[in-house]
Amino acid sequence: MIIDTHCHLFKEEYDDLEDILKQLEKEKIIVIINGYNPLTNKYAIDLANKYKFIYATIGFHPSNINEVQDESFKILEKQLNNKKVVGIGEIGLDYYWNKNNKEKQKEILKKQLDLAKKYNKPIIVHSRDAVDDVYNLLKKYNLKGILHAFSGSLEQANLFINLGYKLGIGGVVTFKNSKLKEVIKNINLEYIVLETDAPYLTPEPYRGKKNKPIYVRIIAEKIADIKETKYNDVCQITTRNVRSLFDLDL
Ligand code: NI
Repeated sequence: MIIDTHCHLFKEEYDDLEDILKQLEKEKIIVIINGYNPLTNKYAIDLANKYKFIYATIGFHPSNINEVQDESFKILEKQLNNKKVVGIGEIGLDYYWNKNNKEKQKEILKKQLDLAKKYNKPIIVHSRDAVDDVYNLLKKYNLKGILHAFSGSLEQANLFINLGYKLGIGGVVTFKNSKLKEVIKNINLEYIVLETDAPYLTPEPYRGKKNKPIYVRIIAEKIADIKETKYNDVCQITTRNVRSLFDLDL
């Protein structure tokens, strides 16, 4: 079994969404679709309700906070009661694309961390050029989850691991000169989960094309390569990691 913990499978992105879903079902790939704004949260839930192999996480991404109103939080809270909604995400801080609204980003993130606490849900965290603020905030909450698209140093990896987080590893690990390889060599597989971030961050050799969850296998192969272990072991251990985080009815 193999699980893509992070993808955005929405019809706006894929003309061939039906075909992609059929293929995933046939290939027995489990996916967690991450919403990032009110609309995609609803899409993620609809797909998870329709397909057994799909789970949803919902939340407000730091780049989408202009779409968030007080009412949005009420809806989010209601949606968290859906059985196929297994976590809160994609949430976080992004000072790369938006550095003029840091306080607002933190406020929205905190509200969602409070909800994660209240409903005992794991979180999926986006952090770009904001690692110190993300770390300091997460340190105050006793939550668990995934640091999505991890691309930091070994030291940063260990800081988040010690807080109880798993590292989401995706396409970047296949890029030439990626520093991630050295980090992965030095951390236990027990702290790694697989992700694609489809439609973004397409792995080699498909870089430049649209990413798909099926490519999660390429990530597992690459990690097996780096860790000098078997592909099946990477699948098995990372699946176990996901199951320890999320309450998946597999
Ligand atoms: Ni994402």
